[in-house]
Amino acid sequence: MNRSFRLPAIVLAGVLFAQAASAQKTTGANKKLVERGKYLVTIALCNDCHSPKKFGPNGPEVDESKLLSGAPSHTPLPESPAGVLGPDKWGVVASNDLTTWFGPWGISFAKNLTPDVETGIGSWTEDMFIRAIRTGKDMGEGRQILPPMPWQLIGKATDADLKAMFAYLKSLPSIKNAVHEPIPPSMGTVHEPIPPATGATK
Ligand code: HEC
Repeated sequence: MNRSFRLPAIVLAGVLFAQAASAQKTTGANKKLVERGKYLVTIALCNDCHSPKKFGPNGPEVDESKLLSGAPSHTPLPESPAGVLGPDKWGVVASNDLTTWFGPWGISFAKNLTPDVETGIGSWTEDMFIRAIRTGKDMGEGRQILPPMPWQLIGKATDADLKAMFAYLKSLPSIKNAVHEPIPPSMGTVHEPIPPATGATK
C-alpha cells in the first residue's frame, strides 16, 4: 500500500518543483524585461516631459517620487503669452517643468504613465500602448495625439522594445494625477488661469 503511494508522491513533488522553477523563470524574465524597459524609457527621454520636476540649484530635476506621473494637475496654468507664437516668432512655449506645452495646436499636457487605473495607464493593454505609439491615436484609436509627444519617432522602436517600455511603466508605483485634457487653440492664446483638474489629489 505504501509502495503504491510512493510513485504519485514523487510525481507530485516533481510537478511542484517544475512549477516553482517555471514561476521563477517567468519572474526572472519579467524582471529583465522591466529593467530593459527602464533603460529604454530613460534614454528615450520620456522623463523630460512626463515626470514632474523639483527645482535644484541648476534648475529643474526629475522628481523621483512622482516619476512619470504627468503634468501635475494641482498646478494652476498661467496665462498663455499673447503674440509670442507665429511663423516669424517662437514656435512653442513650455512650462518650466516641461510637462505642459503651448503651441499652434493649443495647450497639451504630458499624460500620467503610471499604472493608476483612473488617471494613468492602469487599464491599458500592451496592444493599446503599441497602437497608440505607432499610429499617434489616443489609446490606439481615439483623437490625434498632440505635439510635442514624439510618437512618430518613438514608434520606430521594435515591438520588443515597446513591450519592454510598457512592462516598466506598469511596474511603477501608481500615482493618482488627473492630467488636464488638451485646450484647443480656439480658446485663444490668452485665457484666465485654469483651476486644477477635478479629481486632483496632489
Ligand atoms: C517632448 C515631450 C515628450 C516626450 C519626450 C515624450 N512625451 Fe509622451 N506625451 C507628451 C505629451 C504632451 C502628451 C499628451 C499629448 C496629447 O494630449 O495629445 C503625451 C502623451 C503620451 C501618451 C498617451 C498617448 C495617448 O494615447 O493619449 C503616451 C503613452 C506617451 N506619451 C508615452 C511616452 C513615452 C513612452 C515616451 C518616451 C519613450 C514619451 N511619451 C516621451 C509629451 C512627451
